[in-house]
This record gives sequence, structure tokens and C-alpha cells, in this order.
Amino acid sequence: MGNIIDGKALSQVVKDEVKAEVPVLEARYGRKPCLVVIIVGENPASQVYVRNKVKAAAYTGMESRLVELPADISEAALLEQISALNNDPLVDGILVQLPLPKHIDEEKVIDTIAREKDVDGFHPGNVAGLWLGKDCIVPCTPAGIMRLIDSVGVELKGKQAVVVGRSNIVGKPVAKLLLDRHATVTIAHSRTADLGAVCRTADILVLAVGKAKLITGDMIKPGAVVIDVGMNRDEEGKLCGDVDFASAQPVASWITPVPGGVGPMTIAMLMKNTIACFLARTHSTFPKK
Ligand code: GUN
Repeated sequence: MGNIIDGKALSQVVKDEVKAEVPVLEARYGRKPCLVVIIVGENPASQVYVRNKVKAAAYTGMESRLVELPADISEAALLEQISALNNDPLVDGILVQLPLPKHIDEEKVIDTIAREKDVDGFHPGNVAGLWLGKDCIVPCTPAGIMRLIDSVGVELKGKQAVVVGRSNIVGKPVAKLLLDRHATVTIAHSRTADLGAVCRTADILVLAVGKAKLITGDMIKPGAVVIDVGMNRDEEGKLCGDVDFASAQPVASWITPVPGGVGPMTIAMLMKNTIACFLARTHSTFPKK
């Protein structure tokens, strides 16, 4: 037991799928898909994320643009930039890296991005689409998690899935995706009583709480598939997940490492979503979930 799911290798497969698709789209529609990534301020973690997103876009051969805005930009000025990109026919995907400075209302920003250019799948229209089972853009991290699970060939139907974390970006959407695949889903969180007991019921355990090494091997059912979305620093300042990898790995049948698990998949699925947005606008239809 304790097989590692290599998110880095799988993300390469996904990026290569997109790389093969870009010239086909260009030949057929006369232009390449285009992703615009916006960063406000100088949060170092966000700077790394956006650089990796633009780098991945360049790798696939699609067009991309990084818009770097000062931390003190007004909310109105940011919304204006987004509106201009909404109206630019050559822009297919718009991503505003979160979190934003305190004086900017994230909800307003998300609502302003045109639904059909919302590569993050955060717009209320896409969230509604996901929960109502209609066509939509699925958020990148949850989509990446499903692809990681599918890569090891586990059947989800009838299985117990536990998602720890209830964010709009990961916890809630991944719970819905697992439900769509006929898993029995429990959403646990920081105030769940006896978290260990709840986690031990899981055949599929998804951790997205942001607490370093919160989940230890004794909280995992032997043979479970463990997906670690956490991106934390341990006591020594080393990158680590929500799972204590050393004690969890021998118990799990499959487990994602941090780094090299979910993170690269989020970026790879962003590339897929950019293609989906390109096609949605070109065909005036919404992508199939
Ligand atoms: N910040 C952390 N994760 C994400 C993400 O998936 N998208 C955006 N836009 N910001 C994030």
C-alpha cells in the first residue's frame, strides 16, 4: 500500500492534450485560445501561482497575458479592466488571482467576469450550473482532483467519500462532483466533532482545510484514496499538506504528495477550461460538464 499519485506527471499528460488541441483549433477557427491572468498586489504565493499559470499557457501554445496591477488599485478601476476584457473578442478566459487586497470586494470581482470567460468556474452562473447538473465550467482544483482519482481507476459508485473543508473553491464543488459519480459524500470541517472518526469512514478522503499535517495515519481507513489539497508550511518552513504524509502513506492505497499532487493539476485543468471557454464562445453553447 501507499502508492503515490504523481500529479506532476498527470498534469504533463493534460497539458500535452491541450498542446495537441491548440493547433487544431487555430486551423479550424483562425486563432488560438487566449487566457488573461490578473494579479493585484505582490502576495509572493500568488506571484508564484500566476507565473506558473502563464508558463503553462505558453507551454500549450495558446495565447496568454499577465496583467499586474498595483495593490492600491481602486475596486472601480479593477472592475473597469475586467469589463474591457469581457468585451474583447480575442480574450477567451479571464482569471483574477485570489485573495485580493482587503479594500476590493471579491464577490463583486467574480460577478463582473463574464460567465462564459470565467475559467475558474467561480461565477454564480457556473456554480448554479454545477449544482443543478447543467453545462458549466467546473472549478480547476476540483476538476483536477477528479482526474487524479480517475487516474488510479477506483470506482466511486457506492463508496464513502469524506471531504474536509467547505470552501467555494474546493470543498463544496468537489463534494458535488463526487456526488455526481454516485459516492456517498460527507462534508466535514474545522468544527466537525471527532474528525478522526468521520475521516476513518472514508474510502475516498479529500483534505482541503489548510492546516499543516492535521490528518494523521490513525485517522485514515486502511486502503483509502487520500487527496491532499493543503499547501502549508510545517514547523521547519517546509511545504506540506493537510496530511501527515509519513504516517498516512503506509495506510492509504493511493495518496497525493505535497508538492507534486493537486497543485500542478489545478494549473493543467485551467488550460482545459480555457479551451472549454474558447469553444463555448465560438459555438455560442456552454461546455458539457
Ligand atoms: N487562489 C487560490 N486558488 C485559486 C484559484 O483556483 N483561482 C484563483 N483565481 N485564485 C486562487
